[in-house]
Amino acid sequence: MAKNVGILAVDIYFPPTCVQQEALEAFDGASKGKYTIGLGQDCMAFCTELEDVISMSLTVVTSLLEKYKIDPTKIGRLEVGSETVIDKSKSIKTFLMQIFEKHGNTDIEGVDSTNACYGGTAALLNCVNWVESNSWDGRYGLVVCTDSAVYAEGPARPTGGAAAVAMLIGPEAPIVFESKFRGSHMAHAYDFYKPDLASEYPVVDGKLSQTCYLMALDSCYKTLCNKYEKLEGKQFSLDEADFFVFHSPYNKLVQKSFARLLYNEFMRNTSSVDEAAKEMFKQFASLSIDESYQSRDLEKVSQQLAKPLYDSKVKPTTLISKQGGNMYTASLYAAFVSLIHGKHSELPGKRVVMFSYGSGLTATMFSLKLRENAAPFGLSDIATAMDVAGKLKNRHEFSPEKFVETMKLMEHRYGAKDFVTNKEQIGLLSPGTYYLVEVDSKYRRFYSAISPENGSVENGH
Ligand code: ACO
Repeated sequence: MAKNVGILAVDIYFPPTCVQQEALEAFDGASKGKYTIGLGQDCMAFCTELEDVISMSLTVVTSLLEKYKIDPTKIGRLEVGSETVIDKSKSIKTFLMQIFEKHGNTDIEGVDSTNACYGGTAALLNCVNWVESNSWDGRYGLVVCTDSAVYAEGPARPTGGAAAVAMLIGPEAPIVFESKFRGSHMAHAYDFYKPDLASEYPVVDGKLSQTCYLMALDSCYKTLCNKYEKLEGKQFSLDEADFFVFHSPYNKLVQKSFARLLYNEFMRNTSSVDEAAKEMFKQFASLSIDESYQSRDLEKVSQQLAKPLYDSKVKPTTLISKQGGNMYTASLYAAFVSLIHGKHSELPGKRVVMFSYGSGLTATMFSLKLRENAAPFGLSDIATAMDVAGKLKNRHEFSPEKFVETMKLMEHRYGAKDFVTNKEQIGLLSPGTYYLVEVDSKYRRFYSAISPENGSVENGH
């Protein structure tokens, strides 16, 4: 049996192109502060015509293998989570096989998982389960979460984003799965879905999606607490975890979600709610569960009471999500990357609780235990390899006008064939980045990479 199975290495890629939320809110005619304070977002990453979920995956996988010096023949399972449909049959995983085929490795299990923002978690759990199972052949698993989150013009548009995260899975990891401490909640809901196959944009009931998210959170937390209490013989409370990482459609929902956990603690009567907070919560004790989701007063009071704990247990996870926006399947893992980036030296010995939500709906809360580990798989090695600060610094801001123009072009390009991309903006991409060269008359997609050595354009896949 493999021991201490979990995440050995991580890398993240987000497009260098972004738009400031303050500028976008003024351009959209929204009231000042709606996107920045109201939604809690600073900036939003997006793909130009040169990038898509496949190019971002090629970039992040190549980068991870190179930075951690992983022999491509040592990968035995590769799973991708994505909800950005480019092909209804051919998986993104098969595009990534080009990296492995040239090293003679075609013996790699796994395909894509799709259910809104949850596909990456499904892929991750599959890989962890594989390494923990009888069918494990001793090689690494590799998980890729990749999405371009775009919305039609309107209130949901500022909650877009884009990124790809790759995670190497194996035994003796610095980020260990506490596989027994998991709670899932799966149900049927029409909160966000993509029934129009000719469009990249979802149909979204924003308010319903917020309530579904919170209902799933309550349910997963309850299940995780029950499992913990059964196995450990003691109560689970917020004190048992050092950090809480949330799927982050926009930061305000993360603030509300953590506050909701504190309300759960009050209702469960745990030690993490002090006497003063109990007094404040008392007025909401008789609310029905449905009323509790609708009560603005409860929301406000919970957020106030949770603020100190939010600052220590959640805020360190929010950097990339506030800067890049919702990255769908990559969102939860980008939040986790923010934690490693900012706190890597303090993390050994800490427990991190992760909450994954995908509309439709599927959700899982799971627990990780972090520990010291030898190079190249130490937490500080991961922080150095990811170079989050460098990537954020190298971004290029587009004006809202140029952002909207890009979205319009992408609407035409979605599902289109027989075009070559305009290379005018290729200089914005860093060495090692893959980009879309053309889609031919048979819808076949061709990618190339910027040479890592001298920045020149390479022939690629
Ligand atoms: N200054 C400060 N705050 C403001 C201002 C202002 N000028 N104007 C509005 N606000 C606040 C509002 O009070 C609200 O905050 P609150 O919820 O704490 O009250 C917040 O800004 C947003 O304003 P709303 O009017 O509620 O926003 P709207 O309904 O127009 O859109 C929504 C928000 C529903 C989140 C929309 O962006 C959306 O549909 N997004 C996609 C769906 C989504 O992300 N769902 C989350 C889970 S599912 C998933 O991950 C895809």
